[in-house]
Amino acid sequence: MSVIKVAILGFGTVGEGVYQTIQSHGEELERVLGSKVEVAAVLIRNKQKKRNIDEEVLITSDFNEILHLPQLDVVIEAIVDKEPPYTFLKQAIQRGCHIITANKEMFAHHGKELLELADSHNVSVGYEATVAGGIPVIQTLRQLLNVNRVSLIQGILNGTSNFILTEMRKRKQSFADALSLAQKKGYAEADPTNDVEGFDAFFKTMILSRIAFGEEPNWQDVEREGITTITSNLIDAAEKFGLRFKHVASITKAGNQIRATVKPVLVGKTHPFYHIEGVENAVNVQSDIVGSITLQGPGAGMFPTASAVIEDLVYVCQHQPSNKNFTKTTAGNYGEEIGQVKELWLIKGLPKNNKNPLITWVAQATDEIAIIKAAREEVEKVMNQQEEAYYFQIIDGYKIERKYEEITLAAL
Ligand code: HSE
Repeated sequence: MSVIKVAILGFGTVGEGVYQTIQSHGEELERVLGSKVEVAAVLIRNKQKKRNIDEEVLITSDFNEILHLPQLDVVIEAIVDKEPPYTFLKQAIQRGCHIITANKEMFAHHGKELLELADSHNVSVGYEATVAGGIPVIQTLRQLLNVNRVSLIQGILNGTSNFILTEMRKRKQSFADALSLAQKKGYAEADPTNDVEGFDAFFKTMILSRIAFGEEPNWQDVEREGITTITSNLIDAAEKFGLRFKHVASITKAGNQIRATVKPVLVGKTHPFYHIEGVENAVNVQSDIVGSITLQGPGAGMFPTASAVIEDLVYVCQHQPSNKNFTKTTAGNYGEEIGQVKELWLIKGLPKNNKNPLITWVAQATDEIAIIKAAREEVEKVMNQQEEAYYFQIIDGYKIERKYEEITLAAL
């Protein structure tokens, strides 16, 4: 029986998880692929560090040694940064290997080139692990996009941020303690700035946009904000209104324009993201035939991410065309009036005596924190004039608004 030879680049949380899973699920892989899968080599940075890797596996810090192995079928990349991973993967494709990556930043920047190069060398690219950890969102979107027209995608795409927000609310942990726990559990990036400032979710959003709409918005037009402005006070105030902070990416197509935001928002109990807690991620897709679908599952961590890579291993070995569905879907109709439509906002720092007729006060949590109803353009104008002022959109406004109207009326 033939053997499929695999190299793993990087032996951090993801690389080690993949290695262990290939060992633990060898039988399943052999059954579905009809060939045994063997790890031929592992690329590491520090050769001195002790690792639990079989003796017959080549352990090297020189990628050339891997590239020149007599047999190499699949290269799995689980390093960080754009380089050298991009160069390694290009070389692997040129050698005729299928590639799999878990590297969001690199793939957001260079995915298009890698897919084109793979196409011209007749090999496949797996990148399921770049978005939403263990949730098979990329394969699902590919499948769904065969006929459905997607109009809106929303996602909680960073496990570390969701974990921190949950710990701060449920266990009253400080931001720093919650982040440190996320790092210990292997959820956070090597530099957690990418997690808490929204860059990681931004890269994932760009990858999703390309799959769903065949293109990305201009990166500089995307409103990107992390969770570092969210304090325990804000979380408590939101809870009084039955709202939870979630870090949400949103992509829609209005006319010919893709619009994306990546930022903290508030959701109420009826929103599918309200119960997404801890390291979980979720992706809600709205499309014309099926309506609204929400996928949820672990968004980070050793084995959830390894699961996405292993499923990709089967996918690439069966040699699926990776560029499938990279087509433009028909425009959705969302957000034409973004900016002018009145929405609900949780705000901090707008004096209560503000008499702007374009802003309606809906409910007050503390002296400083309140819910208002206003158009985004007005909120931005007014709040940007205040010092230490924050505003967060409430994204399932209709039901919440009814609730507060009832509260306000009852109070009168
Ligand atoms: N640091 C990432 C997260 C890992 O927390 O979501 C998974 O991409």
